[in-house]
Amino acid sequence: MERSQWGTRAGFIMAAVGSAVGLGNIWRFPYVAYENGGGAFFIPYLFALLTAGIPILILEFTIGHKFRGSAPLSFFRMGGKKLEWLGWWAVFVSFIISCYYAVIIAWAMRYTIFSFNQAWGTDTEAFLFNDFLNLTVQPGQTGGIVWGVFIPLAIVWIITLGILLAGVKKGIELANRIFIPTLVVIFLIVVIRALTLDGAAMGLDAFFKPNFEAIMDPSVWVAAYGHIFFSLSVAFAIMITYASYLPKKSDITNNAFITGFANSAFELLAGIGVFAALGFMASQQGVAVADVASAGVGLAFVVFPQIINEFPGFNGLFGALFFLSLTLAGLTSLISITETYVAGISEKFGITRNKAVAFGGGLAALISILFATQGGLFFLDLADYYINQFGVAAIGLVEVVLVVWVFRKANLLQSHANGISDIHLGGWWKFCLGVITPIVLGYMMFGLLRLNILKQFDTETGNYEGYSNMFTLFGGVSVALAAIVLGILFTLGKWHKDHAQFEENK
Ligand code: ALA
Repeated sequence: MERSQWGTRAGFIMAAVGSAVGLGNIWRFPYVAYENGGGAFFIPYLFALLTAGIPILILEFTIGHKFRGSAPLSFFRMGGKKLEWLGWWAVFVSFIISCYYAVIIAWAMRYTIFSFNQAWGTDTEAFLFNDFLNLTVQPGQTGGIVWGVFIPLAIVWIITLGILLAGVKKGIELANRIFIPTLVVIFLIVVIRALTLDGAAMGLDAFFKPNFEAIMDPSVWVAAYGHIFFSLSVAFAIMITYASYLPKKSDITNNAFITGFANSAFELLAGIGVFAALGFMASQQGVAVADVASAGVGLAFVVFPQIINEFPGFNGLFGALFFLSLTLAGLTSLISITETYVAGISEKFGITRNKAVAFGGGLAALISILFATQGGLFFLDLADYYINQFGVAAIGLVEVVLVVWVFRKANLLQSHANGISDIHLGGWWKFCLGVITPIVLGYMMFGLLRLNILKQFDTETGNYEGYSNMFTLFGGVSVALAAIVLGILFTLGKWHKDHAQFEENK
């Protein structure tokens, strides 16, 4: 059977940017940057982008294009079963991420509606945790289903799976061609409006003011690498899958640079917009920006509603546009995350795309209901923490070590990319992948493992967020381990005969 293809180069770039720009850019980046040295964070951030993010993106685009398969199939074609498991590991990490990522989009969707009349009232924190999420159980307990989350969650899955059923060109490409330009326009309106608020300069000052001491701290570098991987969607199996739908004559390196820089530009814009708005709120309340900035869930779903409450004129509209942009950015990423396992299982078992969407997507949708229960937020928080540290970052490290050092494929991939791309890869590319990235990531993983193991013996520091040992084990550690175990189990099976042989793109 002919492999599906993107209709145009712009369509592919739009889909890759759609995957990269997501929840990570809008509510994760501003706070991570602020917490890790503000303006000085840009030094490690740029270093991680240029030495790991973009080189790995080029690597994944090249692998997908050359071997024309989902991540497991491409790795299988490159190095047999000894490499295939890495693809499945990344696919299962994506599978797990998709289960809770969908829930955050569902919140954003609901908050878009809440914005119009500021349904959250004055105490936005109590509203989020008590009224909206109904978080009245202990960590590890599920409680009942929260219908206010369940219903938008069902809508998120219907949209995502509907788009995937329509195929690569008529589904994924078309959706991104509509969603991405819409997102850019809406987001620009939000950012420009935020910049014209009183106190915006104070917020930007807090965001950009460099704290040079911070960059001497290794944890700031860890944060920069972790963020770049999540934000660029590398080591998720996504970019290999997307590049496998490129036609034979396609540019690789230039497309990777465009994707990487577009993602960072969006991220920077998000940081500027969010901090301008925080500056406004701080100046309204007569406090410092540091007193109003907060992390993750809190920033988007507690602080932003407060900003919207105090907003001068058309606040309902401003709020709705902000949450709509979060929803759109999230949807285009969720589509790409889900496509990794749709492509993987359809190729491994030789089933149609429709069946793979129904089976893989259906299963993810069912599991995601866990995160739409009263205790869902605790499960989400724990799974997210473990899967990012011991999923995405670990895969990035194993990927460069195996491809460059164990299987020694860097030269082969370099000449493939150079044969078709505008920008030629030189020794710098191999140096980044083979030397800089493994050293920094290896150091980072070693430190993280040590810290996590030590914590088990230290009753004072306790587990992540003080969760119980049982909950940490079942809700976090075992989730991260499950991805790798399932990856190995899937590798044991045979490829469907249609995919056992192929003619690679030369
Ligand atoms: N790259 C996606 C994001 O930033 C997963 O949210």
